[in-house]
Amino acid sequence: MELVAAADSDERGLMLLRIWNTLRSIVVPHFKYWIQYFFPKSKDTVPKRITLAGNELASDTEDLIEEVIVSKEINSSENETRGNEEISASETDDVDILQEESIVYIAEVTAKLLEEMPPIINTEVNEKVRLHCECLVLSDETLHDVCQTLNTELNRGLAKETNAEATIKCFPTFVQELPNGKESGRFLALDLGGTNFRVLLIELGEGKFAMDSKIYAVPHDIMVGHGTELFDHIAACMASFINERQLNDELLPLGFTFSFPCAQEGLTKARLARWTKGFKCAGVEGNDVVAMLKDAIARRQDVRIKICAVLNDTTGTLMSCAWKNHNCMIGLIVGTGTNACYMEKLEKVELWDGATDGPQQVIINTEWGAFGDNGCLDDIRVYCDHNIDKESINPGRQLFEKMISGMYMGEIARQVLVKLVDEGLIFENQNCDALKEKGQFFTKYISEIESDKPGDFSNCLSVLEDLGILDATPEDCASVRYVCEVVSRRAANLAGAGVAVLLNRIAQKKVTVAVDGSVYRFHPFFHDMMVEIIKRLVKPGIEFDLMLSEDGSGRGAALVAAVANRSAMERQQLLEQQAR
Ligand code: GLC
Repeated sequence: MELVAAADSDERGLMLLRIWNTLRSIVVPHFKYWIQYFFPKSKDTVPKRITLAGNELASDTEDLIEEVIVSKEINSSENETRGNEEISASETDDVDILQEESIVYIAEVTAKLLEEMPPIINTEVNEKVRLHCECLVLSDETLHDVCQTLNTELNRGLAKETNAEATIKCFPTFVQELPNGKESGRFLALDLGGTNFRVLLIELGEGKFAMDSKIYAVPHDIMVGHGTELFDHIAACMASFINERQLNDELLPLGFTFSFPCAQEGLTKARLARWTKGFKCAGVEGNDVVAMLKDAIARRQDVRIKICAVLNDTTGTLMSCAWKNHNCMIGLIVGTGTNACYMEKLEKVELWDGATDGPQQVIINTEWGAFGDNGCLDDIRVYCDHNIDKESINPGRQLFEKMISGMYMGEIARQVLVKLVDEGLIFENQNCDALKEKGQFFTKYISEIESDKPGDFSNCLSVLEDLGILDATPEDCASVRYVCEVVSRRAANLAGAGVAVLLNRIAQKKVTVAVDGSVYRFHPFFHDMMVEIIKRLVKPGIEFDLMLSEDGSGRGAALVAAVANRSAMERQQLLEQQAR
């Protein structure tokens, strides 16, 4: 349903427009009730469109509407009749509310409705539900402590003496230079890191970017099968992509985005430290994934490729954003998993064993998902975190990730909801069988439910319907929404705390954070919640912005390959010059 309003160009018309605009902000959240009031006979008489005649509204005039509401005496019986006569007779899709008296009348009725509206509009969250969720609410003080601990753990990862037992490994990526926007050429990219695998063909020109890509599923039995099968599957998908596009004759440089923790020994050598995010293929941990990919390609003998770089998705995200934005120094993913990388000074990276005559900086893949694996987050982990961990494929691992990312967020909310059902606080006499099944409350439900406007529970009701809960009360819906809010806010606060730590380490006046991942992308307030908390945790004087980084895994891979190509060529030229 759409509300459009406009007015004549005269002043009175403008005033009407402003009143209407303010009214709209009151009416829209309560639209159902408002409409029922005006069109009480049957649903069919409700118009699809209500217009004042054309222009978009501005909305800065709350005072005006206050005046209208306060100063008019509401004569409800007379007005009700007038309203029904004037508007409800419509059988058409559009109703035009043009006259001044109609607007004033709407103001009056809206004021009255606000008093009369059924409790759903202002449904308070049940106090017991609120109390139950308190353990998921993190104070600023607690988040400050989290920041300090994270900073200590990052230092332990970077230091030679402590790296071996550190949980946050801080892997140097061997990416030391950011793109300058002049990279060009055609590249292939492979992107493995979630339930899907993508092959991409990317064309870079100065400031230009074109992409052709195809998604291939990674079946569950391959995710937990043998490593050779996984790499054979990747090679098969790549071969079919290359054949379909008749690229067999070209030897394209390839960037491989492999989004799991890897100890890199160079730009094209990465040993998998351990699987995360539901993968568990035998025979890969400890091995070089680039070599495994090359072997799989060699087994097929039908494609030729030149692997120029292997990278993490966080690095791709940073590079993709840095291509245009030169303040970008942090890459963050809040998707199926969570992780961040940042540009660190070489002198701080004690384990660095690459060249020391090049740039005095390197991107560090923190692998912060493992934060807490040594027990340092136990004070804030609660029953649902313990349950999720116990039932996961990697118990005791990736504990920070399990509190934040999309693979677990829905399940956290489900655990809380089930507890509320068991305590008799929600869904009385409802069939909760589906809700009680592991994995049935998807993370996308959280975004959908929180996208409902205040007082409206349409998405919430349809999610509950999917779960077979057909007669949820407004109070149930308010509780479900509250649980979702608490779970997503905790995730945003923790991810935000992590970003604040990195910003404080970089300590530059202005830094852009490149962000990607389904949770960040699709949750309606994740970005805002993160900005809010980072502002409270970052040192004074540091400015930052969070920027959605489009397609880091693809474009980023091409950029790493391109920058590597460029640096290699520059080095070659230098050597040749010196030899002359
Ligand atoms: C997991 C992986 C990490 C990746 C992140 C986001 O935490 O271990 O490498 O960057 O998920 O995809």
